[in-house]
Amino acid sequence: MISKKMEDAFNKQINEELYSAYLYQSLSAFATRIGLEGFANWFQIQVQEEISHSQKFYSFISERGGKIKFLQINEPPAEFGSPLELFELTLEHEQHITKCINNLMNLAVDEKDHASQIFLQWYITEQVEEENNVKTILDKLKLVGKEGHGLFMIDKDLSTRVFTPPA
Ligand code: FEO
Repeated sequence: MISKKMEDAFNKQINEELYSAYLYQSLSAFATRIGLEGFANWFQIQVQEEISHSQKFYSFISERGGKIKFLQINEPPAEFGSPLELFELTLEHEQHITKCINNLMNLAVDEKDHASQIFLQWYITEQVEEENNVKTILDKLKLVGKEGHGLFMIDKDLSTRVFTPPA
């Protein structure tokens, strides 16, 4: 049985993951609006990833006999800046999520909740990957600067991303 403290913290994380999906959906819509279909695709896949992240928490709380509680999801911004700024914002957001996951792990250690610690390891690894993927794209965007052809190539590259459901 999951502790009330852990249950509340995991429910809050479901909300964080669903807000992430909202934010990326909004970024995807914005990218479409400015003609960057590849960027829009990348963010769309990110939406699916975030929903799957929330789903894993959902299943875990449920399996441990806890109660799922859906909290209100904040409204994400609808206007964003340059292509580079889209990914700067994404990195900032993922760093925030990494902090959330680390705090959950700290709580699981305090609560001596071994099952939650094992469960959270997946997210710790996932966040390393998430931040690294975004940093790689950011580096490319910095390299090409405002050069149209380079941006076109990156957009083409981002259009190839596909969703792989988490194991
Ligand atoms: Fe669910 Fe992008 O972290």
